[in-house]
Amino acid sequence: MTEPTAKLGFATKLVHAGETDNPLGSVTTPVFDTASFAMPDLAAHDRAVHDMTGVPYYTRGYNPTVHALETKLAAVESAEAALAFNSGMAAITTTLLALASGGGHIVASDELFVATANWLAEDIRALGAGCTFADFTDLAQVDKAIRPDTRVLFFEEFTNPTLRVLDLEALIRLGHARGLAVVVDNTFASPALLRPTEHGADLVVHSATKYLSGHGRVLAGSVAGRADVIERIGELRRRLGTGVTPHNAAGVLDGMKTLELRVDRQSASALTLAALAAEHPATGVVHYPGLPASPGHDIATRLTGGRYGGMFSFTLRHPHRKAAVYNAFEVIIRATSLGDVASLVDSFDSPDLLRISVGIEDPADLIADLTAALDRGV
Ligand SMILES: Cc1ncc(COP(=O)(O)O)c(C=O)c1O
Repeated sequence: MTEPTAKLGFATKLVHAGETDNPLGSVTTPVFDTASFAMPDLAAHDRAVHDMTGVPYYTRGYNPTVHALETKLAAVESAEAALAFNSGMAAITTTLLALASGGGHIVASDELFVATANWLAEDIRALGAGCTFADFTDLAQVDKAIRPDTRVLFFEEFTNPTLRVLDLEALIRLGHARGLAVVVDNTFASPALLRPTEHGADLVVHSATKYLSGHGRVLAGSVAGRADVIERIGELRRRLGTGVTPHNAAGVLDGMKTLELRVDRQSASALTLAALAAEHPATGVVHYPGLPASPGHDIATRLTGGRYGGMFSFTLRHPHRKAAVYNAFEVIIRATSLGDVASLVDSFDSPDLLRISVGIEDPADLIADLTAALDRGV
């Protein structure tokens, strides 16, 4: 099969993109577990050292397995180009450094994954950049936080952990009107639900550890978007050494093939479980954009066409029962991370908040497990 073109459907790209030209017709992409590649002669060597991110020379710059993943990522994100990293944090930090180091300013959402928030609040100053946080559900606040030296708007489209859904198109319009690069962390929605570059975002980043790989075995990250910007980020990635290993790239390549199937199932089960939680006397607020009463429901419906993903979180009416509820899960695993085929429950630095990442188990088993755990919270 030749490389899928933009005409082919999303599921076809998930399976085939990047993996159509393998040696010996290998159906899966070989793992090129090597640090370096032999040079046939000095002329080839001299070409390679001038294009370290474009040809096989040294794996920190280029590796065929990683390149296959990047081709797949670009195709499924409807982006010109993509890069893979050794974690979501590596993708985020390398991308934002490339855009804002040397005196640049970032305006970021005030609800972000905690490590991203801490890095933006504490570490980037030492690197010559700065960040102001704003409530991205309020466009006027975002507008007010933009300064003459601002270069980037950065936000999670579905926020972690309370699943706020932001007005993607309005934020992109605002960012572009002020001359900024709009960078979206789309980890929670995944490209199966939403592809921000199709709405005009300049770059989309992911923790590929989550839905893209899908099986909780590898750490990885990605950025996709405009080719000229990706090239700059790729050069910085080579210098920093934040690229994904060939082994982990293969894990993401395999996982992505079933992304849409998994997310369809996870979205359906999450809607059932979130509705159950909303009716249960143990819970206070249930955060899930699929619930019609949720503040992000209308925007999410417009953007995702009625699938809302596998993530929901809830507060407990009786915070002193939090340990009893958390400790009671038997099928849903008490573990951090998300987007896994296994359902996971996680606790946060809050007296009453729990978050569930819904897996692909039998819905009846998940319903029974959540009900039994919530019954401990009454
Ligand atoms: C929304 C979001 N972005 C980024 C990350 C960081 O990804 P990683 O753990 O792969 O570095 C996470 C991790 O949980 C996340 O939830």
